[in-house]
Amino acid sequence: MSLAVHTSDLDIIGAGFVPLDYAATAPCVRAAADAVNALLPRYGSVHRGTGPRSQTSTLEYERARDVIADFLGCRPGDQVIFTRNTTDALNLLARALPPGTTTVVFDGEHHANLLPWPNALRLPAPASWADAVTTAERALRELRGPVLLTVTGASNVTGELWPVRELAAVAHRHGARIAVDAAQLAPHVPVSLADLDADYVALSGHKLYAPFGAGVLAGRADWLDAAPPYLAGGGASAHVGDRAGDVRWAAGPARHEGGTPNLLGAVSLAAVCSALGEADRAALRAHEQELLAHLREGLRRVPGVAEVSIFGTGSERVGIVSLTLNGRDPSVVAGRLAEGFGIGVRAGKFCAHPLVRRLSETPGNAGCDGGLLRVSFGLGTTPEDIDSLLAALASL
Ligand code: ALA
Repeated sequence: MSLAVHTSDLDIIGAGFVPLDYAATAPCVRAAADAVNALLPRYGSVHRGTGPRSQTSTLEYERARDVIADFLGCRPGDQVIFTRNTTDALNLLARALPPGTTTVVFDGEHHANLLPWPNALRLPAPASWADAVTTAERALRELRGPVLLTVTGASNVTGELWPVRELAAVAHRHGARIAVDAAQLAPHVPVSLADLDADYVALSGHKLYAPFGAGVLAGRADWLDAAPPYLAGGGASAHVGDRAGDVRWAAGPARHEGGTPNLLGAVSLAAVCSALGEADRAALRAHEQELLAHLREGLRRVPGVAEVSIFGTGSERVGIVSLTLNGRDPSVVAGRLAEGFGIGVRAGKFCAHPLVRRLSETPGNAGCDGGLLRVSFGLGTTPEDIDSLLAALASL
């Protein structure tokens, strides 16, 4: 097996334990930490001052927006709005839907993409890509008025990719829009609004190696420009009169970014996007797939451990695998991996309760109704990390 791809900007900061919980929060890469350290001595208010610190900060903040727009393949006219994380980004979009919009969502979603939608039609988690497309087509055909189909790019439970491009085509054929929860996809696979022909994409900095509290919603401007501000306050308002309600709201991203923005979060996220944009992502993906194959092969040899899957074991996935443990409590096993071996994984239902329930009812996945043990990885993970986990699981 080849060794880790060494690109210094994408080196992980820190050492001394085995982080295999990237799907919750990925470690910080050097590019993000360096960007924060470089800006801190010059840091000041964004959009709110004339001094050099403020001017620098405003420039850096808007430059970060441009870098992220490039990274996400935004089309002319698309907006990039900084949020706290994916949950925040999808809640913002939910609040910006035109009145009467129906949202169509599969049960396979993380709660962030399940709970914000006010008028949601829930579809059962599909058994295959073809099933996803057919089920969506059947639902969309019946709906009238504005419709948003919203889907994850990669499952936070199984790491499996969803047929985003195909679903975008179905949505557009029926006059609907599509939003992509790219929280788990963007750290592993290039995501482009233009290439996917998606209308919106949401992601989190803390899963993209920039754990400084920023997320992003990017996509079509019209609904966002027409919506009430997500956070009413300074920055979101262009003019405030003397009477209650006499407010002219700002246009563009500022409309939804009330209050002083998270400059360091935006800049660190942009630094990672820029470093990933310059990296050989095909090589990074190939390396991750080698690690994944190594992990899955090793897991097959650990007695009592079984991988779960939405679309079947042959489906394409990113570096995330969830396991049943033959009746063992996953949180106890996760605790022992941490205490005895310095290995960090996650146990439970991963904010995807309907999906985990559905997986537990699928033949071959029995025993996961109490939760799963999840292993997730990415930049900086080595074959030795995977071997340590396999050895620890075998010994437990
Ligand atoms: N969404 C994160 C996870 O799946 C927190 O762990």
